[in-house]
Amino acid sequence: MASLTLNNVQKTFGQTEVLRGINIAIEDGDFLVLVGPSGCGKSTLLNMIAGLDDISGGDVNIGEERVNELHPSERDIAMVFQSYALYPNMTVEQNIAFGLEMRGVPKEERSNLIAGVSGMLQIEHLLKRKPAQLSGGQRQRVAMGRALVRHPKIFLFDEPLSNLDAKLRVDMRTEIKRLHQRLGATIVYVTHDQIEAMTLATKIAVMKDGVLQQLGSPDEVYNNPANVFVATFMGSPSMNMFPAELNALPDGFYLSLENSSGEQQRLKLTRPLSNSAAYNGKKVLVGIRPEDIREAGDEDASRISCPVDVVEPTGADTYVVTSLGGKEVVSRLKAKCTLKAGDTAELAFNMDHVVLFDADTEERIR
Ligand SMILES: Nc1ncnc2c1ncn2[C@@H]1O[C@H](COP(=O)(O)OP(=O)(O)OP(=O)(O)O)[C@@H](O)[C@H]1O
Ligand SMILES: [Mg+2]
Repeated sequence: MASLTLNNVQKTFGQTEVLRGINIAIEDGDFLVLVGPSGCGKSTLLNMIAGLDDISGGDVNIGEERVNELHPSERDIAMVFQSYALYPNMTVEQNIAFGLEMRGVPKEERSNLIAGVSGMLQIEHLLKRKPAQLSGGQRQRVAMGRALVRHPKIFLFDEPLSNLDAKLRVDMRTEIKRLHQRLGATIVYVTHDQIEAMTLATKIAVMKDGVLQQLGSPDEVYNNPANVFVATFMGSPSMNMFPAELNALPDGFYLSLENSSGEQQRLKLTRPLSNSAAYNGKKVLVGIRPEDIREAGDEDASRISCPVDVVEPTGADTYVVTSLGGKEVVSRLKAKCTLKAGDTAELAFNMDHVVLFDADTEERIR
């Protein structure tokens, strides 16, 4: 196992800049999850770490070693591709065993390793089949098996669970987490699944258009987003975002906004802001997660009344869509909530979790 350091890593395909100066450092044993919209450069970054795409600028270091010029086979990496290429003429068992054979692992040890991963991946019954006789999800698990029998310096996984059904996906997620805890492996993992990102990662890197937006623990990225993009990209449903004016009053800072009846309402800030004076009297963007809004009780001073547009019961919770400051605001309320469309909801915000952004730059105001 090894640490991984990317220093100002760049990639251009012809004239197109695909990665713009990526700086990421992870420790030995970290589980780095890369997230970002389709086309932002996640697979390209994995390919460069693996040595399958050359590096247009910057350095990739595995452990203490700069690997820019090393051949993929010399980097000691195991990769599961987004399009999991298997050897078509080999059985599942041979596919998994191939890398082990190449490394001269004795037959008995190979059998034990194959039995171990095929149990974990629930593919024992498929070992004698050829890839063409498998479903997409089964092939994907064979590709995982091929990587997991090895003990490389770094595992690279590109959306390894994307073709599995919901149940199997949850099972595999747990297995990967268990494996990581047991081996302490260094892993770089790409996913579009928010729950996978939050539950597996020790660090999350959020990318957009080839630019790293934020690198931090799941908690940091979720609760302390660096900008509006990160705030709204992480979490489902997304963080609510609406405009308000920041005002200094004698007893502290307030957010002022108009409700749908045109009345001014105020919410008192509880998180200290170091540069709040600069924003006094200015419009800011207010971010609050659906789970940080609840129906106001008598004791709630910071409350806002909003007209209810849509009520969506999900069983465990009820999502209530209201509007505020001209924007849609979703609250995750208790399942037994009795609000209906057309009602006016009295909502209380958990002001300790409210985050503010500059209305022009969309960067976080701290
Ligand atoms: N060989 C190539 N030549 C030119 N452009 C490429 C090449 N490979 C990738 N790209 C472009 O680079 C950008 C990043 O692609 P990449 O595959 O890394 O995205 P991604 O983040 O993995 O997306 P997805 O989530 O859809 O898998 C895309 O705009 C893509 O079109
Ligand atoms: Mg990709």
